Parts: sequence; C-alpha cells; structure tokens
Amino acid sequence: MTKRTIGVGVIGLGWMGRLHSRSYRKLQEYYPDLDADIQLVAAADPLESNRDAAVSQLGFERVYSDYKDLLSDPDIDVVSICCPNFLHRDVAVATAQAGKPFWIEKPMGVSAAQSQEISAAAQRHNVVTAVGFNYRHTPAIEKARQLIHEGKLGRITNARCWLIADYASSPTGPLTWRYNREQAGAGVLGDLMSHGADLVHYLCGAITDVTAVTGTFIPKRPIPLKAGVGHEGWQVSDELGPVENEDYVAVLARLNDGVIATIESSRVCVGPRAEYVIEVYGTDGSIRWNFERLNELEVCLGRDSEFQGYTRVMANSHFPAFSVFQPSAGTSMGFDDMKVVEAAQFIESVLSGIQYAPSAADACLAAEVVDAAVASAEDGTWHAVAPVTGPLTFDRIDEDTKESHV
Ligand SMILES: NC(=O)c1ccc[n+]([C@@H]2O[C@H](COP(=O)([O-])OP(=O)(O)OC[C@H]3O[C@@H](n4cnc5c(N)ncnc54)[C@H](O)[C@@H]3O)[C@@H](O)[C@H]2O)c1
Repeated sequence: MTKRTIGVGVIGLGWMGRLHSRSYRKLQEYYPDLDADIQLVAAADPLESNRDAAVSQLGFERVYSDYKDLLSDPDIDVVSICCPNFLHRDVAVATAQAGKPFWIEKPMGVSAAQSQEISAAAQRHNVVTAVGFNYRHTPAIEKARQLIHEGKLGRITNARCWLIADYASSPTGPLTWRYNREQAGAGVLGDLMSHGADLVHYLCGAITDVTAVTGTFIPKRPIPLKAGVGHEGWQVSDELGPVENEDYVAVLARLNDGVIATIESSRVCVGPRAEYVIEVYGTDGSIRWNFERLNELEVCLGRDSEFQGYTRVMANSHFPAFSVFQPSAGTSMGFDDMKVVEAAQFIESVLSGIQYAPSAADACLAAEVVDAAVASAEDGTWHAVAPVTGPLTFDRIDEDTKESHV
C-alpha cells in the first residue's frame, strides 16, 4: 500500500529544530506501521551556518532564510516551530492560516494571551497541533499515569514536582534571548516550570489556583557576540546586560477534588544538572520519577508489607512505548526518544484528524498557570488559573487517546 507523503518544514534550526528533524527521520524505523512517508522538505533559519547544516547534516532538500517563504512552499504539509519564544505567536498563527498542522516548542507564547491566540488560530483553521511537553512521553510517566487512573494509588492527595537545572548557573553564561522578557516571557517559569505544570496536569488533573514566589539571582550576564546552539557554543563580550526574567520560582497549587501540589524550579542551581522530579501521593500508594534516571519508576503500592517503601522498577515492555525503542528491560531510552514518540503522535494526529499529542490547548493551560504564578509573585495573593477552551488531551483516557495508537 502506498503511504501518504508528508512534507515537513522546520522553522529554527537550533537545538530543538535539529532534534525535531532527527525525530521525523527516525519515524520510519521506530514506527514502520505509521501510514506516512515523511520527507524533510525545507528548513528556515536566518543563520547561514544553520541553513548549511540543514542540508549537509540533516538531509533537508532546501532552505530559506525567511520562514514566510517556507510557509508558502506547496510541498510542505506540516511545520515544526522551534525558533525563540517571541516568534512563536506570529509563526504559529501564520502556519495555521496556511492550513498546516504544527508541532510547536514550549512555552507556546511569551504569555498566556499569546498562547490563547495560537490555540484559537489552530481551532479556527482546524489544524491539529503538538507541543513539546516531551516528559509526558517517558514510559515511566505513562506507566505512572496508568497506575493512577486504575486507582492503584487510591485517592490522589498531593504531588511534589521540582525542575532544578544548572544551565544558567554560571554568571559568565551568555545573555541569550532566554533572559529577555520580551523575547522569552517569564524566565524559568515558561522554560521549565511549564513542563512541571503539564506533568501535574497529566498525572493529577488541572491546576485551578496558585500562589508563588520568584527570584532572579544572577541579575547581569555578558552580551553575546556570536550565537551557539541551545545553551552551548556562544561567544560573549566583556559587556554585561540585564537579566529581565526569573531564575527561580516556588508554586503552591490547588487542583480539583482537594488535591494539592507544589512545583519548584530553578535554572541557576549548582549541583543538580537537570533534576526534574515528580512525586504523586495517594491514600494507598505513591510514585516518584526523576528525569536524570528516566528509565526508572519508584513505586509504593499499599502499606501492609514488611518491606513497605519504594520499589525501584526499571522500564520494561509493560511500560507504554518502551518496546518501540528497546528489546528488554535494563537497556535504556534517552531524551531524544521522547521526541520520537511526540513526532509519532503528531503525525498520527495529522493522518487521523484526532488530537493525540499534547495540544495547543494543553499548552494554554500551562501558560495560564505561569501567568497566574507571575501575578501571585507580584502581589502576594492567590490567583485563579483562567480556564481554556480547545482539545485538551491531558485528562483523556479513552480508546481515542494515543495509548491505543502510538
Ligand atoms: N521541549 C524541550 O525540552 C525544550 C528544550 C529546549 C528548548 N525548547 C524550546 O525550543 C525553542 C527553541 O529553543 P532552542 O534551545 O532550540 O534555541 P536555539 O537558540 O538553539 O535555537 C533557536 C533557533 O531559531 C533560529 N531563529 C531565530 N530567529 C529566527 C527566525 N526569524 N526564523 C527562523 N529561525 C529563527 C536561531 O537562528 C536558532 O537557530 C524555545 O521555545 C525553547 O523554549 C524546548
């Protein structure tokens, strides 16, 4: 049977753009049953070195310096949006207007208002979406979600989530777009805490109210002379410029049904490299997962055993998606594999018209949590998280969810 050809365009060829590109390329190998023949048609980036890499390293057919030219390329059916945050709104709205489904990186907009605009455009033009909430796709997190929804932990009472990183811990690190409020939005809140909000949503349900404190601990950084990729490879000058957004946040959150959660996040801690942890507690058990050991799930079910306490379980073929990547327990998946799962969900959504991947609406909800936390940090009071409209996926457990597909 002939597979449907899907032409891909990637906008922004830094860390995430390269990872999206690699993920599309791996679909044929990891998801051979996916009814799509994926072609890397074009990449857009203003930097010549990135355009060269798009062709010579990643296998794109052609490149553009202006993303608008990519959007008008008739061979492009779907678009990955991997440029800096401040461009997401304009690029995503134009992509939706062009009738092309898009896979966009988080945070979706630099504010909840921008995220709403993006989500509304996707709904208006009837295009499916995917958002880079990759931690959802870890087999251990999917297994934890199954246990929670099967009632194995009893009634969920509370969750603790922390995302503590060191990528900005050196004061000599470059003043990239990430530290500029107009270009990035809220600092570590959009960058890391939004992942935490999505994990809490995915495992425990929607956050309804928050109170928060924030801090900026490294107020100035050297101005870059030459761009790198992601956090690495930048050249800097001796001149310092101001950091305009948050290095740290601590959030106390209320969810429906009396569930309480804390989310703490920092980009400037020395020690943990990328310690992204979620613990979920119920009346009959609990789970704990740490991204630094992403192939492990700590589980405690019941309280009557002589050996009550966490059992460390290695991901195995009973964990969703694990067998796609590894033949047996003890062999490990990595960060890039989560993006392949995300790519598969996105393409499956494009083929079927059913939203499987984390959606623009899910990203709006995370953005509303970020905005409510910023507002709370400013005035010291609790803030309600504004409700969102659109195809939320975080609380869907039915035969239409991705679990029955990819
Ligand atoms: N899901 C995750 O875990 C994760 C991890 C890292 C970054 N991100 C997100 O991915 C996005 C990109 O981050 P990154 O680390 O790849 O950044 P990066 O700085 O490495 O790459 C950004 C790229 O966008 C390009 N660009 C700038 N202006 C452009 C324009 N007008 N048109 C097209 N391209 C343009 C830059 O030249 C650069 O190549 C951000 O939204 C970030 O928050 C997500």
